[in-house]
Amino acid sequence: MSGDRPRVLVTRVIPDEGLDPVRKACEIDLWTDELPPPRDELLRRVAGVDGLLSLLTDRVDDELLDAAGTQLKVVSNFAVGFDNIDVPALTRRRIPAGNTPGVLTETTADLAFALLMAAARRIPESVDYVRNGSWKTWGPMLLMGVDVHGATLGIVGFGRIGRELARRGRGFGMRILYHDVHPASPEEEAELGATRVEMEELLRASDFVSLHVNLTPETHHLIGADALRAMKPIAVLVNTSRGPVVDPDALTDALRAGEIFAAGLDVTDPEPLPADHPLVSLPNCVVVPHIASASKVTRGKMAAMAAANLLAGLRGERLPTPVNPEVYE
Ligand code: DGY
Repeated sequence: MSGDRPRVLVTRVIPDEGLDPVRKACEIDLWTDELPPPRDELLRRVAGVDGLLSLLTDRVDDELLDAAGTQLKVVSNFAVGFDNIDVPALTRRRIPAGNTPGVLTETTADLAFALLMAAARRIPESVDYVRNGSWKTWGPMLLMGVDVHGATLGIVGFGRIGRELARRGRGFGMRILYHDVHPASPEEEAELGATRVEMEELLRASDFVSLHVNLTPETHHLIGADALRAMKPIAVLVNTSRGPVVDPDALTDALRAGEIFAAGLDVTDPEPLPADHPLVSLPNCVVVPHIASASKVTRGKMAAMAAANLLAGLRGERLPTPVNPEVYE
């Protein structure tokens, strides 16, 4: 602490809804570059801080916690996902970590559905076609895609975002299948018109497969060559979860071979995807730069929530949304 104001490191500029309250209460070291702080810079700047507001591009692990020092009281992640954080390492030190669940659910589901539509109806390819002057006439065989309405939507991971996607699918008259280790209640299934099936059945029966699982050792490359081969040749794969849930080489091969119709990716492995990566230039792959939660309102809410977690931790209070509530036991 400097005087009675805690010292915090904020590793990127976030919306004012989060920066303002942190500035009011703390001595803030704000990393203002567009790119994340390089590792050595992060380790240097974290030394001696009382709180860290991190992004999914910052690895928070034993090395960083050692560099920070024993005064560190809280880590607040500006994201709902927290696979960048070694949670057991924080818990061992009884440091709470927070994330931003809930506020980005609908915005993320909107983007998943947008990718689904864009890949199914070949929107980016069609835009390029017009832009590069190829449009000469109305064509009966031109840029034919696959129908969304009435199709079967398979949702892998039926948490908050998966369920919101189901609602969007219902609006398009889609049949909803889902796979999750935790079944929804019969009432939720009835409300969402969703049927739980095994993964094999979901891959086999779905026209659209959308991924909404956390990245864990179990879900790493969950969609690999076998899964892609099990899908329909007219199927579209959508990923707004984490890049490594899909094996990128297997996906490239499947898209090239026409084993599936198309893919829509908000997240990739590696991330960012280099411009010369084959998935970038394949016409049947729509890639956007991890923007699923990127609406102004939602990013403002995420910032406010990340600030609330940070400030609660600095005051020694329970975080509003801790990812390791066991530190309070
Ligand atoms: C998250 O919050 O985990 C997203 O990937 C970014 O909003």
